[in-house]
Amino acid sequence: MRHSLLKCCLLVPLLAGWAHAVPGPSTLIANVSGRATVNLDGAWRTIVDPFDNGKARGFFRNERPRDKSDLVEYSFDASPVLNVPGDWNTQREQLMFYEGPVWYRREFTYHKRANTRVFVYFGAANYQTAVYLNGEKLGEHEGGFTPFNFEATSSLRDGDNCLVVEVINTRRADAVPALRFDWWNYGGITRDVSLVEVPGTFIQDYFLQLERGSSHQISGWVQFNGPLTRHEVTIQIPEAGVEIKTLTTASGFARLGFDASQAACGRKPAPKCGAPLKLWSPESPNLYRVIISGEGDTVVDQIGFRTIEVQGSRILLNGKPIFLRGISMHEEAPFREGRAFSPEDAQTLLGWVKDLGCNFVRFAHYPHNENEVRLADRMGLLVWSEIPVYWDIDWSNPATLANAEAQLRDMIARDHNRAAVILWSLSNETPVKPERLTFLKQLAQYAREFDSTRLITSAMNHVDDTGPNERTISDPLGEALDVLGLNEYLGWYGGRPEDADQMQWKLKWDKPLIVSEFGGGAPYGHHGDADERWTEEYQENLFQHQLGMVELMPNLAGLTPWVLMDFRSPARMLPAVQDYHNRKGLISNRGQRKLAFYTLQKFYKKLADAGK
Ligand code: GCU
Repeated sequence: MRHSLLKCCLLVPLLAGWAHAVPGPSTLIANVSGRATVNLDGAWRTIVDPFDNGKARGFFRNERPRDKSDLVEYSFDASPVLNVPGDWNTQREQLMFYEGPVWYRREFTYHKRANTRVFVYFGAANYQTAVYLNGEKLGEHEGGFTPFNFEATSSLRDGDNCLVVEVINTRRADAVPALRFDWWNYGGITRDVSLVEVPGTFIQDYFLQLERGSSHQISGWVQFNGPLTRHEVTIQIPEAGVEIKTLTTASGFARLGFDASQAACGRKPAPKCGAPLKLWSPESPNLYRVIISGEGDTVVDQIGFRTIEVQGSRILLNGKPIFLRGISMHEEAPFREGRAFSPEDAQTLLGWVKDLGCNFVRFAHYPHNENEVRLADRMGLLVWSEIPVYWDIDWSNPATLANAEAQLRDMIARDHNRAAVILWSLSNETPVKPERLTFLKQLAQYAREFDSTRLITSAMNHVDDTGPNERTISDPLGEALDVLGLNEYLGWYGGRPEDADQMQWKLKWDKPLIVSEFGGGAPYGHHGDADERWTEEYQENLFQHQLGMVELMPNLAGLTPWVLMDFRSPARMLPAVQDYHNRKGLISNRGQRKLAFYTLQKFYKKLADAGK
């Protein structure tokens, strides 16, 4: 890590040569759940505004008629509520297909305190958001799956306050994702909202992890926000006996580098002196309590220490080869449907992932909520995290690139201290063309600037037919990646499941390969012959042949078949079969396990028993 997230952006355009407005430094406050907060979740008054009249009408002022003759043509007081967090589509039938602006209002009482700054923090809102406090605009955000916060200190009143938020989920050709994607375009304030209270000078962000190839050398940084007095920061890892102090620069940035097994030697008694760190792994997801303090602020986090790297065609976790037994999943709520957001949703979904025998999960196709990522950290599930550069987007548009970079930056900023996260994915199934390659190579470089400790990947689906039963993975993007992701639907979108038995695969790049998608659709309970589409038997048969094929693929380092659970999609309209659901789940959206669930579970048990 050469630069903190808050400093490096100035470098990128110079290196990559495509002039565009690189997004500013991340302004995210790290580890909000470890801070003093006021939760603003609950029932918010809402106005559905299909023609976006609200701005011109001043909805953000939350006006009420001053007297009986005054004309105010809207009223939050008289408007229905929507729950926050939550998508609006599954809360009100008439909004299921709605794409457009919705205005939210939340009134709250707050008592200001000395030397306290306050930020409004959103876990996410899809897609474009404008935030107003007491009629003043705090800021705007674009992107449906990454957090954002705005400082509210000066707009906040001591007493009654009114927060108004406009959320627009209208799809645009220059957006990320663009016009077409295979998941429901759930709109709204989809994750928690809170007020975050911090001292005048506070620890904005920090990063701590083992250096590649080392089981004891920790490096990282801490970034303060606000005027500095002592310029000193202390890092404590009590269970490891670590306590180190270092100085910040004038701009509040402190670089860290220390040997965890020796750092405990400075103090008397030093029972931990020379003791190795307990490394994080799926078998033992050991998290250390880490205390970062300085300038009157203290943040406590739970961090696991592990290394992840590539060696030839293998992925090494803590220096040892690992096979990633995974599954892909959407952030769709089990049973009730809609966007998942709660710790309970995460527990149910990742519990199913564990039941499959997985040590790995691909969060498709956008950064999932922090509850899932932190639970994966505790459960010992390795994570592939992705930004929604999905199918075809506006590759030549500098604003689209800056948008994708901002989503990438914030995905990394939120989760860079999570040991579970090992792969940053830049895209999914994007068409091979020069402007796309330039765009994605830029993102790859951008990601490596922010985080040199993790692996960069993408899910590709471009293969060359290099023989009657031979396919070569030759996407030029492979050159820019550490790990190759392949989506292939042999037996579903082409060929018969049995064709997999003969299929030979070749790689243009001698890099680890993850088969990031394969699968077929079957509504739970649809039974019939193994060659009858849409039956569980067809899906089961497809999995059996696929698993036989992938086991023989070169450089195979992992799998994330498509998909854990059926999910809503506007692209799936087959009546009585899909009914606007993608049915490739191994589990129905009602939690029912299909035959193929057990096929994969058995396969992973075999691998685990063989130590893979
Ligand atoms: C694609 C895509 C998924 C999609 C799946 C499918 O590969 O990445 O988002 O849902 O195929 O067709 O079911």
